[in-house]
Amino acid sequence: MYNLLSKYLLIMFITFEGIDLSGKSTQAKLLYEYLKEKKKKVIIVREPGGTGISEKIRNILLDKKNFNMKYITEFLLFSASRYQLTEEIIKPHLKRGYYVICDRYYDSSTAYQGYGGEIDISIINKVNKIATGNLIPDLSFLIDISYKENLKRRERMKKSHDRIEQKEISYYTKVINGYRAIAKKDKRFKVLDGTKPISDLQKEIIKLIFKK
Ligand code: TYD
Repeated sequence: MYNLLSKYLLIMFITFEGIDLSGKSTQAKLLYEYLKEKKKKVIIVREPGGTGISEKIRNILLDKKNFNMKYITEFLLFSASRYQLTEEIIKPHLKRGYYVICDRYYDSSTAYQGYGGEIDISIINKVNKIATGNLIPDLSFLIDISYKENLKRRERMKKSHDRIEQKEISYYTKVINGYRAIAKKDKRFKVLDGTKPISDLQKEIIKLIFKK
């Protein structure tokens, strides 16, 4: 019901997407703080993770020792983690009238494992539906940066790589282009230029949510 309701009245389920260091987690947190300050009922969750079981799956996924992990294994683990998070946290909160902000959701699998890992997109779409029980975000933000910008930020932050981030440039380029293709196809997406200042982006996001 919340989905039907939210489609016409309110935007309750909001997801943030983008490559690593795009700034999406910062924007997700800022939105959470803004809604809290406005005394709204709101939670924020991240993928992979967000429940006891999902955090354990997250550790397997990001562990550098698991360099031999196959794309399908990876995809099914992300999906398992997602189902648990959706059923245990996301759906119950939406039913109770909460805003739910999700730092990554199934579009991450389409971009990383589908476009990046080259698993057939029709398979990805089918499993995504199972892993979410058909739940679709009301609004999704793609915080878009180029691979060059990602490298610049990585250098500046002296950030070490987790297992997924260790993949090579061609993989990242496919993920970036994949995200752009996903966003182009689906009206629930708003693409934002991730090189803009943090506060400008935040203003744009708030405007887009409350304008609808
Ligand atoms: P994390 O440290 O949470 O990165 P970020 O802060 O950028 O979100 O690690 C999550 C990693 O998992 C990230 O490299 C993207 C990847 N990922 C996928 O490949 N597929 C997915 O479905 C999800 C949710 C994440």
